[in-house]
Formats: sequence, C-alpha cells, structure tokens
Amino acid sequence: MGDRWYQEAVVYCLDIDTFADSNADGVGDIPGLISRLDYLARLGVTCLWLHPIHPSPNKDDGYDVTDFYNVDPRFGTLGDFAELLHQASNRGIRVIIDLVVNHTSDQHPWFVSARSSPDSPYRDWYVWADHEPTDRHQGMVFPGEQHETWTYDRTAKAWFYHRFYKYQPDLNFHNPEVRAEIKKIISFWLQLGVAGFRMDAVPFIIELTEPGHPESPKDFDYLTELRQHVQWRRGDAVLLAEANVEPDELPQFFGDNAGSGNRLHMLFDFMLNGRLMLALARQDPEPVIEALRDTPKLPEGGQWATFLRNHDEIDLSRLTAEQREQVYAQFGPEEHMRIYERGIRRRFAPMLDNDRRRIELAYSLQFSLRGTPVLRYGEEIGMGENLDLHGREAIRTPMQWSYQPNAGFSAAEAEKLVRPVIESGEYGYPTVNVTAQRKDRNSLLSWFERMIRTLREAPEIGSGSTTHIDVPMPAGVLAHRADGATGTMVFLHNLGTEDAVVDLGLLADEAELPIDVLTDRSYRELGKMDAVQINGYGYRWIRLRRGPLG
Ligand code: NOJ
Repeated sequence: MGDRWYQEAVVYCLDIDTFADSNADGVGDIPGLISRLDYLARLGVTCLWLHPIHPSPNKDDGYDVTDFYNVDPRFGTLGDFAELLHQASNRGIRVIIDLVVNHTSDQHPWFVSARSSPDSPYRDWYVWADHEPTDRHQGMVFPGEQHETWTYDRTAKAWFYHRFYKYQPDLNFHNPEVRAEIKKIISFWLQLGVAGFRMDAVPFIIELTEPGHPESPKDFDYLTELRQHVQWRRGDAVLLAEANVEPDELPQFFGDNAGSGNRLHMLFDFMLNGRLMLALARQDPEPVIEALRDTPKLPEGGQWATFLRNHDEIDLSRLTAEQREQVYAQFGPEEHMRIYERGIRRRFAPMLDNDRRRIELAYSLQFSLRGTPVLRYGEEIGMGENLDLHGREAIRTPMQWSYQPNAGFSAAEAEKLVRPVIESGEYGYPTVNVTAQRKDRNSLLSWFERMIRTLREAPEIGSGSTTHIDVPMPAGVLAHRADGATGTMVFLHNLGTEDAVVDLGLLADEAELPIDVLTDRSYRELGKMDAVQINGYGYRWIRLRRGPLG
C-alpha cells in the first residue's frame, strides 16, 4: 500500500438504520453493524462511509442534524461508536462519517435559539433577511418537493435561507463562530478515531449567501483552511466531498499549491457517473472515453471517487436533455422511477433487468476505471428497490441477510421496521440474500468478492494513471489501461451484445507474460495480443506486466 491509503481503498457506504438491528427494535444499530464487520472484511472493503450518524428528527434520513457531538440514540451510544472504530480497525477497515454542516435541522438548539430572538447568541449563525428576497424561488435542490430557498419564519419575524428542504436552515459561513465550531466538530470525531469525512454539499458550504444574489461568491480558501486543520489533527485523514459542479470548477475544489492538492483530497466523480449511465444505455463506450479525456488533471494527491449507485437519485442533470431521455428510456422508463426532474430512484440490478452479465460488466467497468470505487450496501447481492416508498427511500430498504423473517435484518415485528424489507418477487429476500449467495461460488456476491480482491492486487488502478487505449476497436468495445509503480493493467469491456476480436498487438512489446486476472468467462491465452477475444457484455482484466514494486 502506498502512503495515500484512500487512493487504494474500496469504500462501502451504508445507513446504520437499515443495515443490521441487534436489539429487535426495528432500527439498525451500531452493535448490529459491528456484528457484520466480518462480512465486510470478507467482501474485501477497506473503508466504510457511514451516512449521518447523529441525532436527528430524520426528515431527510439523518441529513438534518440536531447534535453534531453525539450519535443517534436509536443507533447506540458514543461508546458503541468507539467500539465500532476499534473493531473495524482490527479488521483493517477505516471508517469515515458524513459531515453535514451546510445546514442543521430546524430543531437544532442553535436554530431554536436563533429564531427565538434577534438578540440570541445564535441569531447570526444562520442566514436571515428582513424582507422577502427576490431570489426566493431560485436555486432549489429538490424541484418538485421544494418550492423556495427562503422561507418566512413567524417566530423570528424574518426570512431564513435553506438550500435544501425548509427544515434544513443553512449555517452562516460569514460568521467566524460558525467556522470555529465546525473545526471543533471535525476535531471531535478525528479524536475519536474516524479516518475522515464525506463532506456533504460542499459548493453550498463555501457560498457566502446574500439575499437577492442567487449566484453568491464562493470562498474556496475556507476549504484550504479546513484541509490544514484536518491534517494537523490527523495526518492521514481524508476529505471526500460531494461537489456536483461543472468540470471547469472542479480544480478549485482540489486546490493546487505548487502541484499538490491543498483542499479536498477526493471528489465524487458525478460527471463520470452520468457518462457511465449513458454509455451503458447506448451500449457505446464513447461517453466514458469523453469523460476520461475531459475530466481535469488532478493535483498530486487528488483522487476521484467513482460510483454507480449512492444513497441519492442517479443524477443525470449534467447530460443533455436528449442524452437524459436515452438513459431514462433504458433505465427509468416509467415516471414513478424518476425524481427531481433529473434522476432515477432505482437500484442497479433492476435497471439492468437482473441480467447478471450486464451487472458484472457495469461494476467491472466502474471498479477498473481510475479512482477509488464506492459501493452501496446491497448492490453486491443485487438488491432491488421498492418504488412504493417515497422518493429516495425506494433504495433505502433493509439489507437482506437471510431467509429469516425480515430478511434477517431485525427480529422486531414487521410493522416496527424502520422501512419495510423487500419481501417478494424477483428481488424479495427469499430469493436475494447474503446467506444464499455466500454458499454459492457462482453468486453475484462471490463475484464481487473475487472482483474486489483482484482490484486490491492491482493498486495501479487507484494510484496509477488511467488512459484510454486509442486504437481501432469493434463497436461497443472499450480498452483502457492503468499504469503505476506496481505495473500495468489492461482492461477490455464490451458494452455491446456482439462477440468481438480486438487487436492489441501494439502492447505486445510491453507484455512480459500477459495473463487474464478477471474475466466474464475463460478465454484463449493472450499470446501476442493481436487477436484478443471478448464476448458480448464481456470483460477482461489483463495483467500486462509487473513494475519494480509489483
Ligand atoms: C446531499 C445528500 O447526499 C442528500 O442525501 C441530502 O438530502 C442533501 N445533501 C441535504 O443534506
């Protein structure tokens, strides 16, 4: 492993409340998660990203926090959390948590005090306007569910700003006290032993909002300040940020000081995510090639986090209207599968009609592309969604562990569960569960274990450089390579249905003894690489050579 652990990590994200319930109250909890760490270690993940763990009225699945210095009592205690960090570390797994500081819940004591009086010491911790701001109806993040970004508060007798839902008032980053408090929150959790943070809504955190100015200036230096603070407190801690912005804005989020990144270590690659969806829908790798070509060069230490699925909708807002329609047609053909006029609220297996070849192809592509892969819980067994649930909850159903009642997630009565388990049909827990797949060497879970282990033997994917191999290719086929100190890997993915033969003869000189390390089926030996077979929907991970450190 290199020094920068996050570049070679395999991140797994989960909600504690839907993962494993240890005390039969219907809500997943920290002891439940601890009991499943061996499962995660076996799967091969090296880092957990926990969605918000703090006390919360849970109107936005925990992204509405009422106390940044505690864990939600439904999940356990701070003591349980410390134990989780210890047990995870024993298994070589780091833990990062969501840092949601763009806003608080409107029930947070700071806001309760702030709205109560103009003289409250917390008044200026939030963003107020005396008169109705002209941009009241601009900048909503949740169109269809949110109608304004400024709401009048009768108690405060003033308007307050909220980028997200109205029960999530934005903190005022003009205020040095707010900035100091956020550093304290960061220090607190680093001191407990977290390995870093997934920073929520970063473009909005650095916004210096003024009423009537929907395009407020952004204070990027604040990110430099936070990075310094994090690094002084824990040298190897990482900031993994959500910043879904235009590509030309991305470099500023990484920061660059004489070639080295000095702001956020990692950003989710939203651009690649949209392009991957388009490529899979069209069965044409061109959008991925474009993404590889067009994404900005990263400073030293900067890293992308790649993903197919996260806890939110699949956000297609950076595609053109026509491209978005193509993706909708394939993966979200019905209106109720879509959300916020820009996305899809489904899991991957059902989007791909549960076609094992296409699921493997999609995940093989994600995991072999540059960056650090992030996997959402349940994807490794091919869980489905429940479109009867509201909005993004469709993909937030309990983990399906076994054939036992409630999928082995909880011993509570079904009515008490935080969300219903998927009970029947193709994706119901009697069909899709960990226990069944664990026993089956050919299951999707076994495939994920193999794939992740293969990835971990190829650190050049995470810490090397990835390039498209630009030679004539049969339609539908993508060839790319990863080069690093450990050697070179070459990857072929056939997004189309037709079997093909690819001429990679130009690589023959570089190849010591090229071997397949992960494939969709057994192929003939690679020989001189000038007639490499690839099945429709097939993939081949080829080790071309080992480097001095390989
Ligand atoms: C981004 C999170 O990913 C999303 O789930 C949440 O609703 C918003 N931030 C508001 O915190």
